[in-house]
Amino acid sequence: MLKLHLKTIVAVLGASLLCAVVARAQSATPAPDDATLDVEQVFAGTCGFCHSDGGRAAGKGPQLMNSPRDDDFIRNRIKQGKQGAMPAFNGAFTDAQIDQIIKYIRALKPREG
Ligand code: HEC
Repeated sequence: MLKLHLKTIVAVLGASLLCAVVARAQSATPAPDDATLDVEQVFAGTCGFCHSDGGRAAGKGPQLMNSPRDDDFIRNRIKQGKQGAMPAFNGAFTDAQIDQIIKYIRALKPREG
């Protein structure tokens, strides 16, 4: 009886270990060089404190959706920040990642419903 239980436990442990390995393989992140951001998540965590609703609404910072600013202005603001208003993110993101963020801002649409 005890033997059988042990077997079951070992089998269950083995299966969950396998699941963990598979899950890790599936979420494997690409090499840092060409790292693409999950912009929506990064934005929510890093910018969302001031740019509300993923940038759709004004908060401490202005609304970014439908921004009249050009790409250079936006890139510059993200890199340099604005003293007393917004932190500089120079160094936090690569140029390619900032391009991704600009793309995200350009693609913002009001939430449905
Ligand atoms: C601590 C608050 C804060 C955080 C965090 C923050 N911002 Fe800002 N942001 C501001 C404020 C305030 C302004 C307006 C600055 C000014 O007076 O021109 C601004 C301006 C901007 C602008 C220019 C908008 C415009 O029309 O002038 C962009 C683009 C922007 N932020 C993007 C970002 C992104 C992307 C992040 C995250 C990586 C971020 N911000 C994080 C406060 C913040």
